[in-house]
Amino acid sequence: MPDIKLFNGDVLEIIKQFESKSIDLIFADPPYNLSGENYLTCRSGKISKCDKGLWDQIENINEFNRKWIEECIRVLKDNGTIWISGTLHNHPSIGTILKQLNLWIINDIIWFKPNATPLIQKNRFVPSTELIWLAGKSKQYYFNYDLAVKLNNGKQMRNLWEIPAERHKTIHPTEKPEKLLERIILIGSNEQDIILDPFMGSGTTGVVAKRLNRNFIGIEIDETYYCIAQKRIENTQIENNLIQFLRKLTDKNSGQLDFYSTIAKIRNY
Ligand SMILES: C[S@@+](CC[C@H](N)C(=O)[O-])C[C@H]1O[C@@H](n2cnc3c(N)ncnc32)[C@H](O)[C@@H]1O
Repeated sequence: MPDIKLFNGDVLEIIKQFESKSIDLIFADPPYNLSGENYLTCRSGKISKCDKGLWDQIENINEFNRKWIEECIRVLKDNGTIWISGTLHNHPSIGTILKQLNLWIINDIIWFKPNATPLIQKNRFVPSTELIWLAGKSKQYYFNYDLAVKLNNGKQMRNLWEIPAERHKTIHPTEKPEKLLERIILIGSNEQDIILDPFMGSGTTGVVAKRLNRNFIGIEIDETYYCIAQKRIENTQIENNLIQFLRKLTDKNSGQLDFYSTIAKIRNY
């Protein structure tokens, strides 16, 4: 049974108690800093101020990003990877810090949402992408290339990922699709590895980690979201049939299998 540890508090405080070089993979979906007077969004067909919550209004975003990334790098194993998602409001800051900390930037993954919400203002292109920085501490990092190819029907996987935004399962305003996390966790880790999400939100990373038989540590500052994540992860079971199938798929002699149609059969879609 995977070991799940959840914390309700500020990542900058909580993470100090974690051992150095103890984590295999970090997925971080930090505040994007796009809430506030100057940002507009479209809600129920009307223009309104963008307000994801107080957690999304940070005075000095560069200082904040630097502090939590430094701590994440301290707890990451030497061959571990960190995956950080964001939009244009935050990813220049993140990219600069990764460079300043001398990390090895492996990829910038573009997550394309073909069903992104249309724009009411007719003054720009419809935002329909998010960027995920993928970095390691050196060039010796864990990356399951063979599995990535198998997940992509035998072709090399590119850094443009077309994954539709999903109907949210919780009230969290920025819940990520489980399919996105499934791909990251499968390619970036093994069964029994330890996955950390320092900004757990509704618990998506924890749900997928548990399902795929990975251990999980999640931190969330907001008590309501923390409780939602806790319940959601508690109600998740390991997907034993899927794990058996993935073990076969990871076997180098398994040949090509149609990953998603087999998963659909396993899950009775
Ligand atoms: C972009 S959301 C993450 C959403 C998550 N990936 C999901 O699928 O639900 C960022 C989360 O970080 C939390 N947060 C913001 N500042 C934090 C801090 N200093 N420590 C821990 N959590 C924080 C927010 O409350 C919010 O739920």
